[in-house]
Amino acid sequence: MRHFLKETDLTIAETASVFTHAAALKAGRGRNQSTALAKQSWGLLFFKKSTRTRVSFQVGVHELGGLPVMLNADDMQISRGETVADTAKVLSRYLHGMVIRCHEHKLLEDFAQSGTMPVVNALSDFLHPCQFMTDMFTLAERWSKGKPEQYAASLKGRKIAFLGDTACNMANSFVLGGAALGIEIALAGPKGYEPTDEIRQQLKRDGLKETFTFTTDAKEAVKGADMVYTDVWVSMGMEAEKAERLKTMQPYQVNAGLMKLAKPDAYFMHCLPAHPGEEVTAEVLASPQSIIFDQAENRLHVQKAILAFLTR
Ligand code: CP
Ligand code: NVA
Repeated sequence: MRHFLKETDLTIAETASVFTHAAALKAGRGRNQSTALAKQSWGLLFFKKSTRTRVSFQVGVHELGGLPVMLNADDMQISRGETVADTAKVLSRYLHGMVIRCHEHKLLEDFAQSGTMPVVNALSDFLHPCQFMTDMFTLAERWSKGKPEQYAASLKGRKIAFLGDTACNMANSFVLGGAALGIEIALAGPKGYEPTDEIRQQLKRDGLKETFTFTTDAKEAVKGADMVYTDVWVSMGMEAEKAERLKTMQPYQVNAGLMKLAKPDAYFMHCLPAHPGEEVTAEVLASPQSIIFDQAENRLHVQKAILAFLTR
């Protein structure tokens, strides 16, 4: 049984095959439907808010022929102290797989270990691998000139700049996934938001060489980048630090001036939700370089391919 808790839970060859399948699912949506989850029921358990992830997984499970069972943690006994292990064991008697958005990454690992069904990380405080995979697919669609068999290869050697909270889950996903795919990840953020020991240890455990750099100079990171990425400055769970973060991260706002330092054909991406005027200007969000809504759409296609892969 396989889980998808982090980018490196798929090999490069498996990532390439997920991309190829996602491209086929996208092209054939509404016609050549896969029935990969026929007669299956998948739980979608959320401890945090969500718009894209919740809807794209619910629709995705349905489109693969399965029944999505929406579970809000607040409505379940787990929020009154039932253990993760018991919850995983009980739900494994009903369901065929589980998609979980949570705070501590360890909950995903404990759930996967105690249950007897595949578990997918729909975002933890540590990583957001479904978003990262989708972001890479969205770039590869463009950089491979639409040739799905070259999606993974088209990413190798590229430079991605990531600005703002360079210690957040999205940044960690770029550090880990970028190393696996051979992409240069140029992080720029304030002192105190450098990549943590936790993500460095993960690279070690996966036997990967670091492909990231960290600087406090936004311009240096963006120079010559093929894509510029940012995420919210106040991630879910960080609300108490809001005032401090909005002040410290100001120099890392992605604006038109900064985008000019990237390659002329560079893309702008954001996992969303965006806060126009904070981490990015409204102008950049709406510019021709911005591919944020294609990115959001692709969550559906890529996640369907991941679910199909886990139940193959
Ligand atoms: N990008 C993303 O995961 O969005 P949601 O928080 O709306 O699911
Ligand atoms: N870093 C953000 C990502 C939201 C999709 C958060 O954790 O809130």
